[in-house]
Formats: sequence, structure tokens, C-alpha cells
Amino acid sequence: MNDEEISKKNIIICRCEDVTLEEIEKVIDEGYTTLEEIKRILRCGTGACQGRTCTRLILSIISRKTGKPVNEIELPRVRPPIRPVPVALFAGIKRKNKQ
Ligand code: FES
Repeated sequence: MNDEEISKKNIIICRCEDVTLEEIEKVIDEGYTTLEEIKRILRCGTGACQGRTCTRLILSIISRKTGKPVNEIELPRVRPPIRPVPVALFAGIKRKNKQ
């Protein structure tokens, strides 16, 4: 194992989901070259920050590996809730006073 292989294993690209540079490059080498595909396979971009930290990094890795300009790489679909939902609903907390 050379120095480059060792460092790729240690470089965390998506810190929310602990996804490394090596893992991302491996799926790109397997033919998955869109952010949506990589997100579905490795779960990067689905963590607490919702990709705010890792999306740009992953786009640059895809660009470097494929030779495609970043602005030509397809972005993942955004699926916001149809309507706002109170966080208490997910926590199972009943609100006492509705005003
Ligand atoms: S760093 Fe990737 S989802 Fe937060």
C-alpha cells in the first residue's frame, strides 16, 4: 500500500456519514458519476448538515475523476416536505396549548 492509498482511506469527505475519499472514488470508478447515485449508495449528503459541507467536495471529486465540468454534473433532487411540520410531531410530543 502506497502513501496515496493510505491517505485516501483517512480523508473524510462527508463527516456526517463518515464517507471517505477512497469510497467515493471507488463508486465513481464503478460507473456511478452523478451526485444522486453516489448519495444513494454511500449516504453522503444525507447527514445532519444535509450536504452543506460535503456536496461541493463530492462535485469536485466527480469532476476530477470524469473530466466533466462541475456545472455540468447533475445535482440531486430536493424533496422538501409538502407543508411545514412541527418538530414536536416527530418527537411524539403533544402540544398542550394551541394558539
Ligand atoms: S458532511 Fe455530508 S451530510 Fe454533512
